[in-house]
Amino acid sequence: MSSFISGWGTAVPEGIITNDDLAARVDTNDDWIVERTGIRQRRAVGPHESTATLGAAAAAHAIKRAGLTPVDIDLMIVATATPERLIPHTGADIGEQVGLHCGSFDLNAACSGFVYATVIGHALIATGMRHVLVVGAETLTRITDPDDRGTCILFGDGAGAAVLSATDTDDAILGFDLGCDGSAADILMLPAGGSRLPTSPITVERGEHFIKMQGQEVFKRAVRVIADSAHAALHNAGMTPDDVDWFVPHQANLRIIESGAQRVGIDMDRVIVNIADYGNTSSASIPLALFEAVEAGRVREGDVLLLSGFGAGMTWASVVVRWGTPT
Ligand code: ACO
Repeated sequence: MSSFISGWGTAVPEGIITNDDLAARVDTNDDWIVERTGIRQRRAVGPHESTATLGAAAAAHAIKRAGLTPVDIDLMIVATATPERLIPHTGADIGEQVGLHCGSFDLNAACSGFVYATVIGHALIATGMRHVLVVGAETLTRITDPDDRGTCILFGDGAGAAVLSATDTDDAILGFDLGCDGSAADILMLPAGGSRLPTSPITVERGEHFIKMQGQEVFKRAVRVIADSAHAALHNAGMTPDDVDWFVPHQANLRIIESGAQRVGIDMDRVIVNIADYGNTSSASIPLALFEAVEAGRVREGDVLLLSGFGAGMTWASVVVRWGTPT
């Protein structure tokens, strides 16, 4: 048994933070942000929204578009680095909001999370499940220091979801690659709030409940791992970069996307980019970019897609997918 994407959905909050909004608070400007990142605005949750409300909206759309109801879903995997809370997991909230009573768990592979979840869902379908719901949902603005110009310019909120359904053709999910180099854990982390450094008045005073990033180091490694992982997934699929119709990389920074695509060997006219409107939404970025392109009619039945993510850990993940309903 293999699997294909039978339904999809996205959700973003209505709140918009423009580059000019950020420049009113920190020492930055629209020209710098656009030139260094490609980002013009990002979405931000309001007081009554959260990772689960976004994830639930995207999940409900995906189930409906697949022509299914919640009882048809065998398992839900929620990829998120910004969970609803530590306990219980975000899947519990999304399940409650959507009306799902199947098993669920959260998966934290940072910005690689959606691709990790897709590969795991695919593997579970090979063991006999019929429909696995994969959600990438994030509220990065909740863990970003609004006074840190090195990070507040990058991150935004959003969610994307896909239903993976069983098919007896082997021409749907074609190859993948997953990896992690834990020696690079400290270049991108949220220091406090876990078992190593529980939250305390001191950690809050030091701002250790906010994400810390060595931007240049992340940049250098990202370009390398995105290319290596994309090549490994293509190799496992028995394909080359020329076989790819659309490359959908994690939307972290336009310059990373351009350098990564060049190293993979794919021209920018075959790369899907929507970072200008949403910024870096971590595990939501690949589904937001892909499903926007699907809805715009750019991605067609039979197209070969290469999805590649990288993120804190440092994790990386790529999967080669043939888009459409197998016949
Ligand atoms: N506005 C204006 N100037 C700034 C800003 C800003 N927002 N930020 C930094 N600068 C200044 C710096 O102080 C520096 O000034 P100096 O030369 O006088 O010292 C200058 O601009 C250059 O700074 P750099 O840090 O070298 O800027 P860089 O070109 O590397 O861009 C950025 C910074 C955008 C953060 C980049 O390094 C980047 O995108 N890195 C990757 C980040 C990323 O992808 N993170 C997410 C990973 S995925 C995940 O798991 C969440």
